[in-house]
Amino acid sequence: MSYKLLAATVALALPAGAALAQDGDAEAGENVFRKCQACHQVGEDAQNRVGPVLNGVVGRTAGTLEGYNYSDAMVAKGEEGLVWDVESLSAYLENPRDYVNGTKMSFAGLRKEEERADVIAYLSQFSESGGS
Ligand code: HEC
Repeated sequence: MSYKLLAATVALALPAGAALAQDGDAEAGENVFRKCQACHQVGEDAQNRVGPVLNGVVGRTAGTLEGYNYSDAMVAKGEEGLVWDVESLSAYLENPRDYVNGTKMSFAGLRKEEERADVIAYLSQFSESGGS
């Protein structure tokens, strides 16, 4: 089994929102990610830009990537125990300011559930090191 497949399987095995993840199409998600690329990078050479690197974000506690300067609101969410899984990512991406009041992510949100599921499936392919 390739690592990519393994990572996808692990992501699918997450209990929360597993149904959503199954609906997600990582290839379509790559296109959706274009909307994020003004601010976010993924992959082996990814750097923090306006937003934090999103390698390994599925399973990460909110606001905890070292070397990135988060808003106080995001740090507080992480301290309250917010972990990015399919469900919480979908809620944040639908309406960032509603889900994390005070976030500095200036993004209107992805209204379509399918787009959210697809981009989450795409992101779940990247391990912390950026390999897929
Ligand atoms: C205009 C810039 C911008 C765009 C576009 C944008 N983001 Fe963000 N994003 C940010 C910033 C800035 C933060 C840090 C938020 C904070 O600290 O409150 C962030 C934070 C995040 C986080 C939390 C990461 C963590 O480590 O806790 C996720 C997940 C995320 N963005 C996903 C996305 C996705 C997926 C898209 C595209 C659908 C997207 N963002 C589009 C700027 C952006």
